[in-house]
Amino acid sequence: MKHLLSAADLSVDEAILLLDTAAQMAATQSREIKKLPTLRGRTVVNLFFEDSTRTRISFETAAKRLSADVINFSAKGSSVSKGESLKDTALTLHAMGADAVVVRHWASGAPHQLAHSGWLGSVGNPVAVLNAGDGTHQHPTQSLLDAFTIRRHLVPDEGVGRDLKGLKVAIVGDVLHSRVARSNVNLLRTLGAEVTLVSPPTLLPVGVESWPCATSYSLDDTLRDWQPDAVMMLRVQRERMSGGAGGFFPSPLEYTRRYGLDQRRLAMLPEHAIVMHPGPMNRGLEISAQAADSPRSVIVEQVANGVAVRMAALYLLLAGGSSAEGTSI
Ligand code: CP
Repeated sequence: MKHLLSAADLSVDEAILLLDTAAQMAATQSREIKKLPTLRGRTVVNLFFEDSTRTRISFETAAKRLSADVINFSAKGSSVSKGESLKDTALTLHAMGADAVVVRHWASGAPHQLAHSGWLGSVGNPVAVLNAGDGTHQHPTQSLLDAFTIRRHLVPDEGVGRDLKGLKVAIVGDVLHSRVARSNVNLLRTLGAEVTLVSPPTLLPVGVESWPCATSYSLDDTLRDWQPDAVMMLRVQRERMSGGAGGFFPSPLEYTRRYGLDQRRLAMLPEHAIVMHPGPMNRGLEISAQAADSPRSVIVEQVANGVAVRMAALYLLLAGGSSAEGTSI
């Protein structure tokens, strides 16, 4: 395994290998073995051009638990603010001996460019690139931690070795701006789950008809008639909207009325169903406090699972990789 750029690149075997490796990592953590020597002497650079709390901290935690050295690089306060290009930033990181670069960027495709440009060295000691979220494109480790969480709750024996066949997942909200939705549609379908996107027509991307999932404009109909096993609420990304009224159509009030997850809608779900959100949440907009904090909510657990999944990704890219040597995972 060389890079982790997109959930769409993962085969079912690679996805299950990542999830099973994450299960092993989670087991070491729960046995109080906090630190493994696996990546001693390796350097992981966290290169963040966009804000992040969960992804940045969990990649840092994951790398440190594998004994790697970690360099945190934020565009704010760096020479990027003086106009330095992605290429020159990458050349600098390569000169400093990075073994892996975890990149979050506002531009869709930036991690792909880093991985395939040769700026990070292509022969001898290739640097692994892990996409930590690029524009509205992909967030592969988020979809892996989501699949890991779904498997733990809804597949017998915590799902080890298993795919997600037979499960139904509703992904609700601002699909248009969501790299989380795109990554999850790709990975959940690869793992055999059925997916329905629920969104106002104004927040669905052009071409969504060709995605491997169903779409609905009605959250009430989807919850009542389809009975999903998991409901994944998406953050309304107002910072990526432009135009009149902040580009937010329908209005926030109308959005919450038609697409917000609240107590009434929770009661429509099957008893075993779980409530998910990648975070950060807009409480009171796409999800009520009662739904976010309900016993069905696995939102905090998703964050914890992010560490195990990112440990697995770093491990397979930097120390493992026997199943897909030389290819991107
Ligand atoms: N889910 C997610 O990517 O959260 P952060 O933006 O806090 O990393």
